[in-house]
Amino acid sequence: MIKQAERIEKLPPYLFARIEQKIDEAKEKGIDIISLGIGDPDQPTPDYIIDELNTASKKTANHQYPSSVGMLDYRKAVCKWYERQHGVKLDPKSEVVSLIGSKEGIGHISFCYVNPRKKSQVPDPGYPVYGIGTILSGGIPYLMPLKQENGFLVDLEGIPKDVAQKAKLMFINYPNNPTGAVANRDFYEEVVAFAKKYDIVVCHDAAYSEVFFDGHRPLSFMEINGAKDVGIEFNSLSKPFNMTGWRIGWAVGKPEVIEALGRIKSNLDSGAFQAVQVAAIKALTGPIDCLEDMRKLYQERRDIVIDGLNSMGWNLKKPIGSFYIWVPVPKGYTSTEFCELVFDKANVIITPGNGYGEYGEGYFRISLTLETKRLAEALERMKNVNW
Ligand SMILES: Cc1ncc(COP(=O)(O)O)c(C=O)c1O
Repeated sequence: MIKQAERIEKLPPYLFARIEQKIDEAKEKGIDIISLGIGDPDQPTPDYIIDELNTASKKTANHQYPSSVGMLDYRKAVCKWYERQHGVKLDPKSEVVSLIGSKEGIGHISFCYVNPRKKSQVPDPGYPVYGIGTILSGGIPYLMPLKQENGFLVDLEGIPKDVAQKAKLMFINYPNNPTGAVANRDFYEEVVAFAKKYDIVVCHDAAYSEVFFDGHRPLSFMEINGAKDVGIEFNSLSKPFNMTGWRIGWAVGKPEVIEALGRIKSNLDSGAFQAVQVAAIKALTGPIDCLEDMRKLYQERRDIVIDGLNSMGWNLKKPIGSFYIWVPVPKGYTSTEFCELVFDKANVIITPGNGYGEYGEGYFRISLTLETKRLAEALERMKNVNW
């Protein structure tokens, strides 16, 4: 066997690998498993977006290599989106780059700013790609704990000065995966001040910006004074328009960071399929009633889960953002032990919190991206488990 590069050896095991193995084994035995694991919308992409793809896919010009930073019309559509959703003006040429899903940009941004053995600041628990991009760049993730007592916001004062002085990147993500927390203006203003003080590029991951409840629209980082001087924001069409499989997103913000990301991309990929970009333009500039429908559906499911868990003895508040429910495990269990118990006794898959980082230990995550009837059934099954 040929020895692989150290950067590959350092990658943590894929979170869902063990879970997928257990699902396969159970399915072979004919067991009906309900998975509340992976967060991937179950609803279809709206028809008018698919129709636009169909038309665009027949045009020869769209069959050629796209530009890696995105068609100008696509970047203009992203600007229109920011103006409509957040009242923010952006320059399509210098402040927007297209991405093959936001994951692609989140992974690549570390190549632009993280030197070998240098640190980047990564929330824990968190979406694993922040740390993985850092590791692939030869860097070391510095974990910023997200604690319940801080509303799962990053505690900036808790970051040691020497880390802040040396790190070039800080990742933040609100509405948050996995905790469901939403950040307020004060928090973002502190982040801007911190980034200015220490010369840090802030990377705000806004993948769940449109998944909010009870009327609490989350802020875009771009709405904060000075944000464009210190950082960028990632987002995509994946969650708002049920387009996870289409692979189309963006980064917006500080021009020199956008330029660096575009430079990396032009050396590594050739951008997103143009027909997909054309369909995305339709989504970003067209009617958006579908977003209200999406929120209504997830809110109904959120209520089923929270009411169901509270009837089992939890005392959870209803989260106002993202389609995840982050729940402390009952006393006496580790995250893994509790998830295995629920799997063995109820054939329901919930994700152990330690899969999102060491500070996720003691929690589990439920995803709301499952047919409402099945979700309700999963809760009924859990009620019959003794712990
Ligand atoms: C917090 C967060 N950021 C980014 C992504 C990536 O989404 P996409 O690459 O589809 O835009 C995900 C996907 O689940 C996520 O949970």
